Amino acid sequence: MIDLDHVQLSMPSRAGQVDILNDISLKINRGETVAMLGPSGAGKTTAMMVMGGLESITQGRITVAGHDLMALDEDRLAEIRRDHIGIIFQAFRLIPSMTALENVAVPLELIDDRDAFDKARAALVDVGLGHRIDHVPDQLSGGEQQRVAIARAIVTEPDILLADEPTGNLDQTTGAEIMELLINTAQKHNTALVLITHDEGLATQCGRIIRIADGQIASDSAKGV
Ligand SMILES: Nc1ncnc2c1ncn2[C@@H]1O[C@H](COP(=O)(O)OP(=O)(O)O)[C@@H](O)[C@H]1O
Ligand SMILES: [Mg+2]
Repeated sequence: MIDLDHVQLSMPSRAGQVDILNDISLKINRGETVAMLGPSGAGKTTAMMVMGGLESITQGRITVAGHDLMALDEDRLAEIRRDHIGIIFQAFRLIPSMTALENVAVPLELIDDRDAFDKARAALVDVGLGHRIDHVPDQLSGGEQQRVAIARAIVTEPDILLADEPTGNLDQTTGAEIMELLINTAQKHNTALVLITHDEGLATQCGRIIRIADGQIASDSAKGV
């Protein structure tokens, strides 16, 4: 589903060339739950942006759902993102003036889906927020806002769910609930889940852990191996 082949992202700096991603090769299959674990500054977010077609690379190849991302123009890239990828951020990134229902309907309205609001409502019920659909983000707790963001990410039925420190703004109990929801949601829809985290405990909830350090893969191991 995701195939990074010798991916390099380097940038010039006053001190010489900086390798933000250095020779990253990995394959992620449909339905896999994968944690990308590493300290702050390791390159996790950048690697996730590359997988999501939101950041270009200087060398190598990125294939997502069979499409060579480097070969696509901006419009095609936007289509691939829309059709295959859902993203969840640490800071939720909901639109403050919109209700939960409207926020979740946005990606469907962008593709003129006539059932946008019905599907959005169903997605909110799925994440346990059926009773909060008319609330705006300010009227929701952090955990509830992240549930809305998860509903928005899955409402288009993506093949890949990318989550960047999704529990980073939440207390431990709420974070654990959100983790459980993410993993259950991914498994239910056979969606690949890529969880970016610096937290060992969260990473071990995934079926596979890829450790990132200094822009490189330090290790890549499936659970129980
Ligand atoms: N657009 C950019 N220009 C220059 N340096 C960047 C850019 N984006 C990220 N970096 C640098 O790349 C490194 C990895 O960043 P990031 O992917 O955000 O790490 P992580 O998510 O693991 O904390 C950091 O040292 C960061 O400062
Ligand atoms: Mg990061």
